[in-house]
Amino acid sequence: MNPAHRVPVASRVYTPAPGEASDVEHMPAGDVTDGVVRVGGTIRRPHQPQSLAVAEYLDWLDDTGFEGSPRFLGRDTQGRDVLTFVPGQCAGAIPEAWVQSGDLLVSVARLVRRLHTASAGFAPEAHPFPPRPVRPNPTDAAGLICHLDITPQNVVVRDGLAAGLVDFDLAGPSTALHDSLNTAMHWVPLRDPSDAWPGWEDQDPFHRLRIFADAYGWTEDERRRVPGAGIEAAALSYERMRHSAAALGGGWARMWQDGVGGQINRRRAWLEANAEPLVAALTR
Ligand SMILES: Nc1ncnc2c1ncn2[C@@H]1O[C@H](COP(=O)(O)OP(=O)(O)OP(=O)(O)O)[C@@H](O)[C@H]1O
Ligand SMILES: [Mg+2]
Repeated sequence: MNPAHRVPVASRVYTPAPGEASDVEHMPAGDVTDGVVRVGGTIRRPHQPQSLAVAEYLDWLDDTGFEGSPRFLGRDTQGRDVLTFVPGQCAGAIPEAWVQSGDLLVSVARLVRRLHTASAGFAPEAHPFPPRPVRPNPTDAAGLICHLDITPQNVVVRDGLAAGLVDFDLAGPSTALHDSLNTAMHWVPLRDPSDAWPGWEDQDPFHRLRIFADAYGWTEDERRRVPGAGIEAAALSYERMRHSAAALGGGWARMWQDGVGGQINRRRAWLEANAEPLVAALTR
């Protein structure tokens, strides 16, 4: 859409076209946001503190021609955010066997790379992103707005390949390395073997991380930084989850009670124990 014709996100109101489909379908529940539904060709989500910052980011991505994100259409009569529905399939809470495809992993890495290229130059103006309890990586410049939650459940897959990203709730300033490593952490995945999803026990994380690295295009220097950056990210993630569970409750508290803190600590220990073989797998 031509930005000159676009209503500012804060006053954008969604009006369905006459005869537009209005059938309601409940979307698979995630960990935090309740009440995500599909209505015809749209998704309705509860309005949240970050919604307008996210809406401006989605406008920017749309203007760059990035094809992999929903568009923010405005708010409906119930005050909910209205986004375009991105057709395709997302993984379930325990990612299915089809999610293990190497081609899919390559396409996810390439999509994240395109997202980062498209995001360059975007700086929120009217609606800054709400500060998060702990910055993703306080030692880096955090100059790029990124998605920061590219899990299998938040990637839309068509014909076996990543076609879109949804759920920009955690988007905010970060770095390309942090966001791409976070994506690899979810998609390889990088976790202690005792925390493997059922059916994923035989996947080789070294091999899959190398596939991701080559497809995203990490430099030699970035490859060498992966274990250290992953360890630091795990430490910060632990603090952020603990803070969110205490301060926000809801799904954050549920995840904490379910033991996400222990899982993050086991991942950190696994990264520490495997730092050398990980760099070897990425650089040989
Ligand atoms: N714009 C969209 N297009 C297609 N499907 C979507 C879209 N937005 C959400 N979905 C589907 O609905 C599911 C849940 O929505 P979403 O990821 O936005 O919320 P959530 O995971 O419940 O939130 P959170 O991750 O904050 O807990 C997604 O995993 C996806 O299957
Ligand atoms: Mg989600």
